[in-house]
Amino acid sequence: MGSCFSVRLKIESSRLDGKVTSASVPPSPRSPRSQAEILQLANLKSFSFNVLKTATRNFRPDSVLGEGGFGSVFKGWIDEPSLAAAKPGTGTVIAVKRLNHEGIQGHQEWLAEINYLGQLYHQNLVKLIGYCLEDDHRLLVYEFMPRGSLENHLFRRSSYFQPLSWNLRIKVALGAAKGLAYLHSPEAKVIYRDFKSSNILIDSNYNAKLSDFGLAKDGPVDGKSHVSTRVMGTHGYAAPEYMATGHLTARSDIYSFGVVLLELLTGRRSIDKNRPSGEQILVVFAKPYLSSKRKILHIMDPRIEGQYSSAAATRAAILAMKCLMKEPQHRPTADEVVKALEQLQELQKASESLRMESVQKDKDNENDNKVVSYPRTLASSSSSGGV
Ligand SMILES: Nc1ncnc2c1ncn2[C@@H]1O[C@H](COP(=O)(O)OP(=O)(O)OP(=O)(O)O)[C@@H](O)[C@H]1O
Ligand SMILES: [Mg+2]
Repeated sequence: MGSCFSVRLKIESSRLDGKVTSASVPPSPRSPRSQAEILQLANLKSFSFNVLKTATRNFRPDSVLGEGGFGSVFKGWIDEPSLAAAKPGTGTVIAVKRLNHEGIQGHQEWLAEINYLGQLYHQNLVKLIGYCLEDDHRLLVYEFMPRGSLENHLFRRSSYFQPLSWNLRIKVALGAAKGLAYLHSPEAKVIYRDFKSSNILIDSNYNAKLSDFGLAKDGPVDGKSHVSTRVMGTHGYAAPEYMATGHLTARSDIYSFGVVLLELLTGRRSIDKNRPSGEQILVVFAKPYLSSKRKILHIMDPRIEGQYSSAAATRAAILAMKCLMKEPQHRPTADEVVKALEQLQELQKASESLRMESVQKDKDNENDNKVVSYPRTLASSSSSGGV
């Protein structure tokens, strides 16, 4: 979750203790003002701590789905419609995120998640089912996403997480872009601020859904061009102008989208300290390769070699390059990104059907050859009196 006390490198420029007071983050004009209002407005179920404890088998270590800056995420089971804890393997599977840090910062993110996901619904946003607020306990209950995060699929080496194919990478990019387009639409008008591969969750059909709205912000109102904020987000993904000025726009999310698209194309992490210097920051490393058809092939993920046409790879690289433009206004909108990815899918389909046709033609030719050779064999065998 987008927390500034994450174990990973997080950005928090203005205060080193990582704490945000409610005074330093005034509610935006559209947001409800008090916690009571947020909880009341959200269309969510309130769970008791005991139900979630039982549903996750006492937060058993072997039911941990992942760990983030906010805390651990556990797999659990509940009955519907009673929403009581259920036996493992029965009822509805849920993911329970448990805040394991003290302090206002964690509580603020917990509340922001409820504020946004309690009111925004889209097939490319993860569904928040409910929450728990009891004594010091702060938990969030989500729909379970069986294939985990995109980060796991791209970077975790295990038999469970097979490398994603090229087509699935484009499908996931498109789903995530649609989620972003919804957030940026006039209907939602939200800046996500934490677009990264660990926040893109994948369902059993490889539909991508955005999760973690702890850092989300209402977009600018009254004709303003940006929202001013303290700089928060994740190193390697955050837009440079946002890091330099704190001016946040929807195009800051587009920059982060460009970084994730690069991760999908190259199979490299946005920041990887284990690589040689010069290759550690993906954007810096990849940019010189994005402009030419020939060069892009040098940095494509070797695990998907042969699965894409060179035209499709070039298009994807050009899209990434546009998203990563230095000037935010030169970056495409999320709607334009969606369109570009849909066209890319079409292009890929067209080149696949061309390839299939030519394979078929080759087969037909082989068969024709067989047909031609068949009577000759027949003729020779009949001449030898075999038939
Ligand atoms: N609804 C869910 N269904 C299945 N797995 C989930 C779900 N939510 C989270 N996870 C798993 O738990 C991991 C940790 O998630 P979390 O959002 O807490 O942290 P993160 O996104 O990895 O890091 P950060 O704190 O920097 O945002 C995810 O990467 C994912 O593998
Ligand atoms: Mg997350």
